Amino acid sequence: MRKLYIFDTTLRDGEQSLGITLNVKEKLDIARQLVKLGVDVIEAGFPASSPGDMEAVRTIAREIKDVVVCGLTRAVERDIDYCAEALKAAEQPRIHTGIAVSPVHMEKKLRLAPDQVVEAAVAAVKHAKKYVHDVEFYAEDAFRSDHAFLVRVLEKVIDAGATVVNIPDTVGYATPWEYGELISHVMHNVSNIHRAVVSIHCHNDLGMATANSLAGIRAGAGQVEGTINGIGERAGNTSLEEVVMAIYTQRERYGVDPGVYTREIAATSRLVARITGVPVPSHKAIVGANAFMHASGIHQDGVLKERDTYEIINPEVVGTPKNKIVLSARSGRHALRHRLDELGYSLENTEIDMLYQRFLQLADQKGEVYDDDLHALMGQNGTNGSGICLKNLSVTTTGAATATATVTLELDGSTVTDAACGNGPVDAVFKAIDRLMGWTIKLEDYTLKSVSRGSEALGSATVKVSSGDNMAVVGRGVSTDVIEASARAYINALAKVKGITTIRQSASTCDKC
Ligand code: KIV
Ligand code: ZN
Repeated sequence: MRKLYIFDTTLRDGEQSLGITLNVKEKLDIARQLVKLGVDVIEAGFPASSPGDMEAVRTIAREIKDVVVCGLTRAVERDIDYCAEALKAAEQPRIHTGIAVSPVHMEKKLRLAPDQVVEAAVAAVKHAKKYVHDVEFYAEDAFRSDHAFLVRVLEKVIDAGATVVNIPDTVGYATPWEYGELISHVMHNVSNIHRAVVSIHCHNDLGMATANSLAGIRAGAGQVEGTINGIGERAGNTSLEEVVMAIYTQRERYGVDPGVYTREIAATSRLVARITGVPVPSHKAIVGANAFMHASGIHQDGVLKERDTYEIINPEVVGTPKNKIVLSARSGRHALRHRLDELGYSLENTEIDMLYQRFLQLADQKGEVYDDDLHALMGQNGTNGSGICLKNLSVTTTGAATATATVTLELDGSTVTDAACGNGPVDAVFKAIDRLMGWTIKLEDYTLKSVSRGSEALGSATVKVSSGDNMAVVGRGVSTDVIEASARAYINALAKVKGITTIRQSASTCDKC
């Protein structure tokens, strides 16, 4: 089996999804989990694009070991200088530089002749080589390029020192057979291809990113790029978990070993969904809530007789354990810790103590506490306690739309109360919180969903807010009361805007949030 390198770009191309902005801590948390998952390369960001990305790449390069840490650049010296600076402390740094090679991109976007593009590509690789040995070159929009021209560019950049050459289907236009043929063409026609690893990078505009990537792997690619949950520009990138599990289920088809700890897949997916605020559709392959559910009587009967009848993957292989312990108000800390361990959360004793109080409150309200409730509690655990804390909330509604909310917050050590009217209870609560904070903040998005079963289920609210300097952050909150969940989500977002990054909950000052 040849090694297939797994290049994760959740923190770069994934973050380019509409509406996602991750702060340094959020990126670092995801990077740590990607290491547990066993990816080979983490593309941490595009340092020249913003000071925030610069800092994120710098922090990940410093903190994350045993993996290649990569930064993206255009074929521009300044970008490469920034990237090299950000990667300075990395154990295994990689600069990912490149330029577009399709006629439409060269003529309309870059306004460069093909010869100038070759020149810029070679210059970029040579400049990056001054800083690091490991330089990946991307030929943007390679799938729509003239393939003879692509071969010429690749030969030149490999001669200039590129160690990896990336052949993206930037706009998700390929079909599996065509993309496979393109990779095969590269393998057979680029004279010095044995000196570089061929990488594939597909987008999902026609829903074929995973299929195209698998075709590229079969044609000989040595590295696959993608994101967790398939997040990314427009319709997203290749879902790495889908590629890994497609190979896992039928290795002999592909003849490669991705070397990923598949049992970390579910935990990684949940973390990315929670931090980005982009939920995983319930029918999503491998990581969707229904991916291993059997609803019809015929299917249930079949699975009970023999799992293989309707299940091609044992859910435990991707870290979705079968729940054997029923958690309720009678469960102790030990049972709670055991279940959290199984779900991939490892907590210190003090953190278990804090979480246990919230768990008991919830169990009193709900009876049985399901895995989804625990994920929600974990999402909420550690979201406050450094300045803003919800102490009390009451709402009265009059008529269909008008509502009045009275909110009490603990704000930087003082207890403050204010009230506001709004168009419905959530609007009233957000307005009351705005009055207490004395800020004007723009609500960009708000979603509410149930995270487990039954009418007593937890409601999980996600809000996206932006402040004057265009910083957009996501906040989350959970509660059996959906108005309270919304208030918590809003406060969580405001706490982030306020620059509160130390987000450990303090049981001594607040026993509610
Ligand atoms: O889709 C693409 O072409 C890219 C490159 C910048 C690698 O994301
Ligand atoms: Zn891309």
